[in-house]
Amino acid sequence: MQELLQKELGTSLLRSTGHSGGGCISHGESFHTDQGRIYVKTNSRSEARRMFDGEMASLTAIQQTQTVKVPKPIKVIDLPEGGAVFVMEHLDMRGLNRHAEKLGTQLADLHLHNQKLGEKLKKDSNTVGKGEGQTGVQFTENFGFHVVTCCGYLPQVNDWQEDWVTFFARQRIQPQMDMIEKNSGDKEARELWAKLQLKIPSLFADMEIVPALLHGDLWGGNVAEDDSGPIIFDPATFYGHSEYELAIAGMFGGFSSSFYSAYHSKIPKAPGFDKRLKLYQLFHYMNHWNHFGSGYRGSSINIMRNLVK
Ligand SMILES: Nc1ncnc2c1ncn2[C@@H]1O[C@H](COP(=O)(O)OP(=O)(O)O)[C@@H](O)[C@H]1O
Ligand SMILES: [Mg+2]
Repeated sequence: MQELLQKELGTSLLRSTGHSGGGCISHGESFHTDQGRIYVKTNSRSEARRMFDGEMASLTAIQQTQTVKVPKPIKVIDLPEGGAVFVMEHLDMRGLNRHAEKLGTQLADLHLHNQKLGEKLKKDSNTVGKGEGQTGVQFTENFGFHVVTCCGYLPQVNDWQEDWVTFFARQRIQPQMDMIEKNSGDKEARELWAKLQLKIPSLFADMEIVPALLHGDLWGGNVAEDDSGPIIFDPATFYGHSEYELAIAGMFGGFSSSFYSAYHSKIPKAPGFDKRLKLYQLFHYMNHWNHFGSGYRGSSINIMRNLVK
């Protein structure tokens, strides 16, 4: 691995900094190199390449909006024995605390970025010669992403869709339901989902949803800060409904009221927010059920029972 990294990164210096970390999914370690400090995530699963390609594309997309700081992605490298590594910039991170409010503001800016691009595009189309030669992020009217991104290690179906409700039901909940069906054949889950599907459109009455670039896995373990401000990392990005982002944030804690008030001062809660948040949490509970087992079944079933009432 040492030699492979040196060759792939073109660095003669590669010395461990002594900093290592592991998230829920991959092992991580930092190194000094000729180009500065790097953080290397290693995963031996056969799906590791796809997972890290998605993470690299996610970080690139977020970075291009210039709204929230993320580690700069560097390279995904296949391991000869199977699995892959993902190399990114090392950042000295500590727990989110002093910069929580700033994260609320910056996250709202990330979510509003695509909408702003759309407004600019409309304005510029009236001005001859403008709007050409664009680089970086382009405006999109659709929901999805150009590559598969993984929430945990499970792939998300990011095929582009015009309609958010269709996207969420077919490409977020249904694949989780199919996995549950395959693993345990849970009859109650299947029946509740059949009922809930009919109910979902009513949770979105009169909503106009502009696709927002999302981090996609924004729980307390994927946010931090350094002296310069907040940092988000380990994303599973796609264009979706901004409210979706707050679902997992609310499940495991780590976000203070100053974060929420800053966020909602830029993106106010729309009517029906609380019910939709539960619907979005359903995805994450099911995703946890499929990752970590039936300890998350109760929460998934309860949400569906409450929403079909
Ligand atoms: N770029 C980085 N620089 C320094 N430390 C990092 C970096 N990325 C992640 N870490 C450390 O590794 C931990 C897990 O990272 P994460 O990307 O969430 O892994 P996983 O995909 O396994 O959840 C973080 O909590 C943090 O302490
Ligand atoms: Mg993580």
